[in-house]
Amino acid sequence: MLKDQFLLNPEITFLNHGSFGACPKPVFEDYQKWQMKLEQEPIQFITKTGVSFLDDSKQALAEYINCDKADLIYTTNPSTAMNTVIKSLDLKAGDEILTTDQEYGAMDRTWNYYCRKVGAKYIHQKITLPLTNKAEILREFWSGLSPKTKTIFISQITSPTALIFPVKEIIERAKELGLMTIIDGAHVPAHIPLDLKALDPDVYTGACHKWMLAPKGSSFLYVNKQIQDQIDPLIISWGYEAEFPSESRFQDYHQYQGTRDFSAFLTTPAALQFLKENDWENRKKECRNLLQHYYPIVAEELESHVICPVKDEFLGQICSIPIRTTRPLELKEALYAKYKIEIPVVPFSGDTYLRISFQAYNGAAEIETLINAIRSIKKETNLFF
Ligand SMILES: Cc1ncc(COP(=O)(O)O)c(C=O)c1O
Repeated sequence: MLKDQFLLNPEITFLNHGSFGACPKPVFEDYQKWQMKLEQEPIQFITKTGVSFLDDSKQALAEYINCDKADLIYTTNPSTAMNTVIKSLDLKAGDEILTTDQEYGAMDRTWNYYCRKVGAKYIHQKITLPLTNKAEILREFWSGLSPKTKTIFISQITSPTALIFPVKEIIERAKELGLMTIIDGAHVPAHIPLDLKALDPDVYTGACHKWMLAPKGSSFLYVNKQIQDQIDPLIISWGYEAEFPSESRFQDYHQYQGTRDFSAFLTTPAALQFLKENDWENRKKECRNLLQHYYPIVAEELESHVICPVKDEFLGQICSIPIRTTRPLELKEALYAKYKIEIPVVPFSGDTYLRISFQAYNGAAEIETLINAIRSIKKETNLFF
């Protein structure tokens, strides 16, 4: 069974792949192999052999997401990628960044921090739930446009609401308007198709350690060649004023730092191999079918509703359901402590949502466990109202 290939505690019903991912045993072993190599020959590895393995790993990632490897750098997480970019933007007082009301908390905080410094405005355009259709999302989003809008920032798959947003159409319109596009695709790699050449954003970040199954601490930042020179390194280190500059200043500035363990970055080929060997395209399809079957059922059990049309256009392997509770922390704790279910209970827009991830190690039995737990919580407690 596929679940046996993961290191997850078998006693826990794990329905939270979305938060930090989960790494299969062969990929984790590859990670440890790199760490061992580093420790055996630290000088050779950090300055020479590891650098060339890093290049190979970047090439594999670039092929997988279809971009030039020179436009990619590895980062520990999407926050690092976005901080690098946002800090470098020449924001001015009054400039506006157009975004949605469904962005990830750490990104909202980063934008708030840098906007406050200069008096720029971060405009959270409301996208009404339940979603109805793509045209309506686009209409609502673009109604936040103003003559002061400089940049578009949007998630391709949202965090609290787990929805797929039409970023391709948004990028196309932004280009016509001469606006910079920054896309948070943390959940996208190996979850829904990603083709950066076709999408052509200015900036894109994705996590390898979520749906692509790399060990924690592997993500990437893509920056379009035209604007690479505008992006300062977040950490100034040996790649700045490099003694032996490569042909890419972008790579020198952002990829080379002092002592650090970049083993997680090297596992991309092993992670992609795992996906291939385990027929991942079909696994993903099975997960989406499971999600589309159970999403309305769990919503009904929660006396709630789905928040979008139940189809591939808006849903991948993750979905979110508004729930009625005044005690979200206690609910999460009860689900974990009593029912051994790891699942996020997420605050969003004054409400609370239950977010379910469906990864290939999950089956119908785990969703049934969740449904039974909901029934018993409803019967035995007043955590739901
Ligand atoms: C939309 C989105 N962006 C980014 C992240 C992760 O960013 P970080 O690992 O830097 O907190 C997540 C994680 O859940 C996410 O949902």
